[in-house]
Amino acid sequence: MIIQTEEELKGIQEISDIVAITVKKMKEYVRTGMTTKELDDFGRNILKNFGANSAPFVTYQFPGWTCISINNEMAHGIPSSRILKEGDLVNIDVSAELNGFYSDNGASFVLEEDINEKQALVDTSIEALYKAISVIKSGIKISEVGRIIEKTAKDKGYKVIKNLGGHGVGKALHEDPDCILNYYDRHDRRRFKKNSVVAIETFLTTGSTLVNTAADGWTFAGNKGGFCVQHEHTILVTSDNPIILTAKNGI
Ligand code: CO
Ligand code: CO
Repeated sequence: MIIQTEEELKGIQEISDIVAITVKKMKEYVRTGMTTKELDDFGRNILKNFGANSAPFVTYQFPGWTCISINNEMAHGIPSSRILKEGDLVNIDVSAELNGFYSDNGASFVLEEDINEKQALVDTSIEALYKAISVIKSGIKISEVGRIIEKTAKDKGYKVIKNLGGHGVGKALHEDPDCILNYYDRHDRRRFKKNSVVAIETFLTTGSTLVNTAADGWTFAGNKGGFCVQHEHTILVTSDNPIILTAKNGI
């Protein structure tokens, strides 16, 4: 969406705070031995207390309130009886709706002891996200995001997923511009628009370059196994530095 009024700005900031606080609290709550369903139930209660609805549920009938993806799963993991283990790479992605406004926020992290030595992958993804966000302003080409994320990943020996991307958000979960890619596409001539709200997302891996949909019909898993991480902020594009609307998640 393009923000046109103070009212709209208030609405988008309110739901952005809610998804960011939910991600932060879920990160603090998660423990080994817990199922991903228990973690989702905790997130659902936070969203419900705010009066917010799960965006993937209201938009796509996703079977859960939040998306929880583990290790080789990049996105849209369904909360289940799967038990979380030490060293798991956990991704929590919370998108929600309140009063017709939508915001989207996600973060990967290593659960407790880093026995798989994946903290560097997490750190690189966070670095790529902030580097990309730092160049965004009205008039900048959308393809710059992909150029920066791909280069940051490559410099550290990681790959990016080519068939997922960030997207516009605000009055719906997924809006134009779609496919804000993680690699440089010289044919993409689109530019960021002033006062637009976009979700910028990284999709870094230890080897996979594509995701496939798993047998459950939802989970996107890396095509070459290994590990996947994602970090996502919803931002407001301005003619200067963007405003990170989901900054309260603390990443
Ligand atoms: Co998103
Ligand atoms: Co998301």
